[in-house]
Amino acid sequence: MANLVLRKGTHSQFQKSLQNNVIEWGTGLTIDQYFDRESTLRGTPYSQKAHFFYVLVPEDDIETTELLAHCEVYEHPALFVSTSGVAQEIKCMAIGSVFCPVEHRGKGYAKIMMNMLYKQLEQDPQVRASTLYSDIGPVFYDRIGWKTMPSKEVVIAVQPTWQVPALCQSITNKAEVDRLVTQDNIMIREEMNKVAQPAFAVLPAPEKIHWIQQRSQFYCEKLGHGDIEVFGAHIPGTDNYVTFFHNFGEKAIYFLRMRSDSDQNTKAFIALAQREALRYDFEKIILWDIPAIDGVGDKQTVIQQREESISALTIFNDTSNVTWLLNEKFAWV
Ligand SMILES: CC(C)(COP(=O)(O)OP(=O)(O)OC[C@H]1O[C@@H](n2cnc3c(N)ncnc32)[C@H](O)[C@@H]1OP(=O)(O)O)[C@@H](O)C(=O)NCCC(=O)NCCS
Repeated sequence: MANLVLRKGTHSQFQKSLQNNVIEWGTGLTIDQYFDRESTLRGTPYSQKAHFFYVLVPEDDIETTELLAHCEVYEHPALFVSTSGVAQEIKCMAIGSVFCPVEHRGKGYAKIMMNMLYKQLEQDPQVRASTLYSDIGPVFYDRIGWKTMPSKEVVIAVQPTWQVPALCQSITNKAEVDRLVTQDNIMIREEMNKVAQPAFAVLPAPEKIHWIQQRSQFYCEKLGHGDIEVFGAHIPGTDNYVTFFHNFGEKAIYFLRMRSDSDQNTKAFIALAQREALRYDFEKIILWDIPAIDGVGDKQTVIQQREESISALTIFNDTSNVTWLLNEKFAWV
């Protein structure tokens, strides 16, 4: 067998990768709609700047579209507090869409690709950390080096009776999302400097929030609902806010990123999310990595470890016991 290499894929290889993985990640879409979705997302400022595509191919046929395995990599700004206690801005690479075509499965190609990718990232002086979200359990990635992290999920069944308090308002334009998220980033930087243990956090860049919300918009339009009108909620006059991800496949609103100083504000955000969920006949509100909230619907609320999208993290060349802070949905790819 020829030597295998990991390299950035060509345009044709990327197109082929979409044909390969539509079956996995194009649920509910035709192949044309899937291509359309990916092309829309790749056109966003976030993707233009941060998206990379890798293939595992034979060294003697590097431009082949007969891909042995492929994956996508997204660059994120992140903060890392080492034992020295000062938050450093670092580059974190998030891995997604790890795929081996059906006919090549079971021959170790995904493992070879991920081992090569791990080494490549580890040797890159610009890169300090890498994250991913496993849909195939914790073992595969953990053995390579991406360590399984707590992956909490709070699922709240939508209840039509909740009232939205007057102090809480919808975010209805992208400029407001930018303003609140930018302010949040400034505060996260300050807060991370006060963290007393080794810690890591992806920063919620405004363009990343827009990228995920663009995905919602794509489905909203295709399903004939027009434009998404509510991008989140906030408490005017404060820095408390939440951004939403409308997941039409799961019939759920995810909280992408929330800053809330009180249970009262959190409940107000949930109430507004419920109102928004009812507009599309959604069934649940899902929050990742948010502390348990007293009295939020009792039996209607389930707190569980996720079985899909299991978080995994590596900080290269660091053996300290790092806590992943703000491990909310916005960091997902
Ligand atoms: C998951 C996937 C990438 C594995 O590709 P592959 O090339 O067949 O995997 P490998 O042959 O390299 O397997 C390496 C190891 O992972 C294990 N493994 C493979 N697929 C697995 C799965 N779905 N769940 C758990 N473990 C798996 C293998 O048993 C093997 O273990 P071993 O080293 O102890 O023998 C491939 O099945 C795929 O593309 N699936 C659909 C997309 C998907 O789910 N991607 C993962 C998203 S997080």
